[in-house]
Amino acid sequence: KTIKVKAPATIANLVCGFDVLGLCTEVPFDIMEVRLRDDREVIIKSADGYPLPTDPALNTAGAPLLEMIKKLDKDIGFDVIIQKNIKPGSGIGSSAASAAGAVVAANFLLNQPFTKDELVRLAMFGEKVASGVKHADNVAPCIYGGITLVRSIFPLDIIPITAPPLYVSIVHPQIEVRTADARQILRKEVLLKNAVKQWGNIAGLVAGLMKEDYGLISRSLEDVIIEPVRSVLIPGFVDVKKKCLQVGALGGGISGSGPSIFMLSADESTATLVAQEMEDVYQQLGIPAHIYKSNI
Ligand code: HSE
Repeated sequence: KTIKVKAPATIANLVCGFDVLGLCTEVPFDIMEVRLRDDREVIIKSADGYPLPTDPALNTAGAPLLEMIKKLDKDIGFDVIIQKNIKPGSGIGSSAASAAGAVVAANFLLNQPFTKDELVRLAMFGEKVASGVKHADNVAPCIYGGITLVRSIFPLDIIPITAPPLYVSIVHPQIEVRTADARQILRKEVLLKNAVKQWGNIAGLVAGLMKEDYGLISRSLEDVIIEPVRSVLIPGFVDVKKKCLQVGALGGGISGSGPSIFMLSADESTATLVAQEMEDVYQQLGIPAHIYKSNI
């Protein structure tokens, strides 16, 4: 029995919601083929020669599957073939796509014994391999689809957030930022006045999405805690943001831990203009970049 799944990219943080908000895109996506074995092994292969860690305990798809086998306590295992289109260190949920894709596919093969929340819990073992800590702001939207709020991970409390039509433009400058490094540089303490601004924005963003209020969404897409620290790792960041806002984007910022930058727009034609601005900035900087456009 074999199953093939598309594991989509995700955008974590959504500017102000560090580690708690995330959304699922339509493109790009990894393609994963998973087959049942009758021993407790997990064998990981790359579909196109892209170098992936082959020790399952060190692989973002393998670690969650090993946990799943432990939970089931049965003589089953999995062969996994991954076409890794979302490259590690891109900031658009590469590790989450592998982790979520693996557990969703395995769950289908086993006739769905696990709930979505249980799959998120398992997929977080992949995030631990990638970044050293469990966080669910990429795996939750990857498994649930749409936009999710992770109110808490221990105990897990995921809330799907409804939203008006939104289009996302993403630029992935071809430099690598490791999530573990991008977390390392963050300050451990925040000023109360910044915290107040940040939680006002998170609440405003969630309310704006649910009330379908584009003005409120736009005003709330501000991050006074993480972006000022991490944006220095991304050449062109300030320029991209300024130019995209000038052509009508609602707002945006660093996608996950970077280097990708994302912008939200209320309509497709604005998202196209935004994508063009992104392309122009990196062309002028002489940094190769991939552009993606997707609806949510
Ligand atoms: N919330 C995580 C971070 C996402 O920003 O470190 C990493 O993809």
